Amino acid sequence: MRALMPAPDAPAGLALATVDAPEPRPDQVLVEVRHLSLNYGELHFLSRFPAGAIPGWDAAGVVVAAAANGTGPAVGTRVLSYGMGGAWAELRAVDLDELAVVPDSVDLARAVTLPVAGVTALRALRTAGPLLGRRVLITGASGGVGRFAVQLAALSGAQVIASVGAEQRGRGLAVLGADQVTVGLDGITEPVDVVLDTVGGPQLVAAYQLLAPEGTVLSIGCASGEAAVFPPYSTVGPGRSLVSFRIGNRLGADMAVLLHLLEQGRLSPEVAHHAPWEKAADAVDALFGRQLRGKAVLDVSAA
Ligand SMILES: NC(=O)c1ccc[n+]([C@@H]2O[C@H](COP(=O)([O-])OP(=O)(O)OC[C@H]3O[C@@H](n4cnc5c(N)ncnc54)[C@H](OP(=O)(O)O)[C@@H]3O)[C@@H](O)[C@H]2O)c1
Repeated sequence: MRALMPAPDAPAGLALATVDAPEPRPDQVLVEVRHLSLNYGELHFLSRFPAGAIPGWDAAGVVVAAAANGTGPAVGTRVLSYGMGGAWAELRAVDLDELAVVPDSVDLARAVTLPVAGVTALRALRTAGPLLGRRVLITGASGGVGRFAVQLAALSGAQVIASVGAEQRGRGLAVLGADQVTVGLDGITEPVDVVLDTVGGPQLVAAYQLLAPEGTVLSIGCASGEAAVFPPYSTVGPGRSLVSFRIGNRLGADMAVLLHLLEQGRLSPEVAHHAPWEKAADAVDALFGRQLRGKAVLDVSAA
């Protein structure tokens, strides 16, 4: 089968290659992958991926072999899947608790945006606690995680402040539920209760200063690649928290929650770039070039 593999000399460091098909364990299904979505993290840390292993976290497709232990979805079921690798291939073996059945009315190419970006937003907001009436600042709001976070925070009843890198990057965020869209942290005049930060660096330091007493910054990522330097005594004060966040595993149930919202038309997946996987390099360049407002989706096809 074909897979999109690290290839240091190829454009964007990726090339299609012929590899062995996965052999599912008795508690896994085999999925024929139709679409994958790209994430900043898996691309940024591609060089750390074990040599010879197939990369990729998010894939959507159709079950072509049910789990040998008799549990899980039947052959022909459309599913969304997550794993710490294996998504960028024609076939993927998936743990049963890392998949969710895609409702008939939901397009697989839209569903595939959800696993890492959507579940990260969902779990980070849950970590922050009840949000009704609370002021929630979301940095990197134009990105994959950020756009889902804006929508889910608004659905939770929060007052949502979306921070982007430039004015045009904020287009569409008000429609998705942002009460305020701001470039950097300009124009935020009142303290915030919660920050979901995917940008890091000096903006993380500045966002921490905006916290109300007992407020929390969830540190999700560092798309800026810059260091966060806290001035002396800026972290001393009335019970404010900086909490590290990691998505974890067993995404199946939370992917099902997000698919339900998608089915109901209450969540927009924001496919910003859609192309065949032969054109993966263009998608990677667009993502790292900060040209996407939302997610990049690639279609997987057999040779
Ligand atoms: N902890 C976890 O479990 C977890 C899970 C998912 C993602 N993450 C992390 O969260 C971050 C965002 O992930 P994502 O998938 O949402 O990425 P993304 O779609 O590329 O979005 C990143 C956003 O960050 C902003 N940004 C600010 N400075 C940037 C810079 N110097 N370079 C690139 N982007 C910059 C960009 O918005 P503007 O151009 O508008 O500034 C962009 O929209 C990454 O660091 C990723 O590794 C962590």
